[in-house]
Amino acid sequence: MTSRFTDRTALVTGAGSGIGRAVALAFAAEGANVVVAGRRRGPLDETVALAEAAGGKALAVTADVSRAADLQAAVAAAVERFGSLDVAVNNAGVFHGGGPLADLSEEDWHTQLGINVTGVFLALQAEIRQMRTQPAGGAIVNIASTFGLHKRQPGATAYAATKAAVSVLTRGAALDHIGDGVRINAVSPGATATSMSLRPGETEAGRAERMQREVPLGRVASVEEVAAAVLYLASDDAASVVGTELVVDSGQTA
Ligand SMILES: NC(=O)c1ccc[n+]([C@@H]2O[C@H](COP(=O)([O-])OP(=O)(O)OC[C@H]3O[C@@H](n4cnc5c(N)ncnc54)[C@H](OP(=O)(O)O)[C@@H]3O)[C@@H](O)[C@H]2O)c1
Repeated sequence: MTSRFTDRTALVTGAGSGIGRAVALAFAAEGANVVVAGRRRGPLDETVALAEAAGGKALAVTADVSRAADLQAAVAAAVERFGSLDVAVNNAGVFHGGGPLADLSEEDWHTQLGINVTGVFLALQAEIRQMRTQPAGGAIVNIASTFGLHKRQPGATAYAATKAAVSVLTRGAALDHIGDGVRINAVSPGATATSMSLRPGETEAGRAERMQREVPLGRVASVEEVAAAVLYLASDDAASVVGTELVVDSGQTA
């Protein structure tokens, strides 16, 4: 039986954990060859093992998204091993230094900007330059955040600014490159069941209680629910969806 991504190749950054791993496994389950990228090799190898156990083909590439050469090498590795790059998911991201803006260190500012914004910019460049040479083009999904849309939360200003930039990069790049056959969209998760949505010192049970108070649906989104949105945007079902942002946030920004 063929699935939506049979014989297609998908690159996922930040795929050693959380949302990125769930996205990689969802692609593998639908027949894709997956190339998983991140800085730490151990978690990537675990994702590869899980993808292969699910019957998929997978390749781990150690890459820091703040370095152009690493992203170019990841794209080249995907093409060399599997023949093309059909889908890319720019998911790698960090949240550093929660607290009032005036107290944020310059280092935490630059780290977030370098990974969350420059990392997406460099990834888009490397991916689009490959995809626009392919007769079938490609589809890219960036992971933004409701923090960059209209969710407001004190103590997360720098992170929110980086994610707003991802939303703008998504729309601009989508318009710049739809004529090249490259379709670009974003998914904006709200609080999702990974360590990133835990407040300092908070347990999962504590987060569950907080979510019941703060979130209309009463719970975080699962990583599988976010992955399902990513796969939709990357699939031919979304062939006329260009430069949009699909919000998966349990109603937080409704
Ligand atoms: N969880 C939420 O509530 C939530 C909500 C909205 C948006 N998001 C966004 O969703 C994305 C995934 O987050 P997550 O919740 O799944 O958190 P996570 O488990 O911490 O995943 C982040 C991944 O990014 C990788 N990464 C970080 N810096 C990198 C770099 N410079 N180069 C390559 N890879 C890098 C990390 O692996 P290495 O450290 O090994 O590189 C890690 O696997 C992020 O963009 C985040 O901002 C999350």
